[in-house]
Amino acid sequence: MITKKAPTVLPDPAGEFGLTLFTDEESGKEYLAAILGQPRGRENILCRIHTQCFSGDVLHSSRCNCHHRLHLSMELIKRQQTGILIYLRQDGLAAELAKKPDSSQRREGIDLTDHNTMNIPADEVRTCDYAVTILESLDVKSVRLLTDNPRTVEQLQKRGIPVTEHVPLRTSAPAFNDQALPAGSSFFHPPNNPIRENTTEPETLLEDQVLENIRDMLVQSSRNGRDYQPVITASYAQSLDGSITLQAGTQYQISGRQSLRITHGLRAMHDAILIGVGTVLADDPLLTTRLTNGEDPKPIIVDSHLRMPLQCNLLRNNQVNPLVATTEFAEEQALNDLQSMGAEILITAATQDRRVDLGALLRKLYERNLKTVMVEGGSQILTSFFNEQLVNLLVLTIAPQILGGLPGIRELTPDPEGARPSLREVRHALIGKDLMVWGAIHWSTS
Ligand SMILES: NC(=O)c1ccc[n+]([C@@H]2O[C@H](COP(=O)([O-])OP(=O)(O)OC[C@H]3O[C@@H](n4cnc5c(N)ncnc54)[C@H](OP(=O)(O)O)[C@@H]3O)[C@@H](O)[C@H]2O)c1
Repeated sequence: MITKKAPTVLPDPAGEFGLTLFTDEESGKEYLAAILGQPRGRENILCRIHTQCFSGDVLHSSRCNCHHRLHLSMELIKRQQTGILIYLRQDGLAAELAKKPDSSQRREGIDLTDHNTMNIPADEVRTCDYAVTILESLDVKSVRLLTDNPRTVEQLQKRGIPVTEHVPLRTSAPAFNDQALPAGSSFFHPPNNPIRENTTEPETLLEDQVLENIRDMLVQSSRNGRDYQPVITASYAQSLDGSITLQAGTQYQISGRQSLRITHGLRAMHDAILIGVGTVLADDPLLTTRLTNGEDPKPIIVDSHLRMPLQCNLLRNNQVNPLVATTEFAEEQALNDLQSMGAEILITAATQDRRVDLGALLRKLYERNLKTVMVEGGSQILTSFFNEQLVNLLVLTIAPQILGGLPGIRELTPDPEGARPSLREVRHALIGKDLMVWGAIHWSTS
């Protein structure tokens, strides 16, 4: 018999979760239901049945996806403002660790799909019975089940809890770096059961998490940054062979829809977005955050000879006036024309070859309170930023294709000590078909 204890409250910015403790009198084990909103008597309640996993939930072990699934479920419930997380206890740490597949099993292809929820048949029956009892005591009429394990759906249905939707979590990683492939290639749909498969929420949630992680790195870099120049995030898309387009001066869409959304989210995180005039001429970009809800960053165009066309999108269709960085050698007429179209002109020091001195430009941007700048290309600008060791973070989208085109970075010159840039705190995530890799840039000789 399972008895219920008086609920307590778990405050959260998204609302108050009511925590209700259930005790199995026979075994003395306790189970928890974290409830948001008013699910009692209602249909289609978002529900996660999660079995305790000390190494995953608490220590965030990379041996399993438990922490990530738990986190995703809580986030989705918060977004819905209503839902239940049923947290079931294991038999003890020793039993839990003994059951958990290790990385060697994973390499051998054993399916880790939500192994957390149901481990072995005896557990499965018991675990499900507890969950059903809890759901019945909460008078939930039907659930939308957050799981990657089709057997959980099956088991609940068998025990009389209608599952109206199977919401796969599709976690490709605990956070990001798991080697396991995303689960969910074959979701089970019992015959004659109108279960809908929800794909949107977990997809965007993973995107949110990637952005959240990059934001953390950006904040960290800002804290450690210099007090005279902005933090620079270089971000671009390349093919497997490192090409950013087919050939210089032509546009080629490399990244997929999802990674593009992340790029727009990334733009929203920065005060400014910077490109070279070559990219304006080739792509005529808008540089807005139109695929997300964020604010548009200030567009900055590096254009020593003011070649930026007066008819380009940045001058005609962007809500934020672009800032055009040039040198004293620029022609006055071109300067006046651009200003008449709303561009702000920033005259900076010139390099020996009469190009914009990027270090000097960054100092001016900092003075204007532009403290975070995303550099989105193209090839010459990226190469200059790397060569001058101005990049703090790199966010790279790698699409699964081979183009044999224009390399993103060319002729990288090592510094006098022979140091080259590498990534620290490397993270990666599979976003749609693209691989996103990001981290902090570190210069070293090895
Ligand atoms: N896949 C991606 O993520 C991505 C992103 C962006 C662009 N792209 C592609 O990249 C191509 C454009 O690349 P790009 O190399 O031709 O153009 P770019 O790097 O965007 O712009 C280069 C121009 O910037 C100006 N510049 C001024 N100061 C500079 C400095 N210190 N260092 C470097 N450049 C300076 C130079 O023109 P002035 O000397 O006249 O000032 C130079 O020609 C396009 O085909 C575009 O489609 C791809």
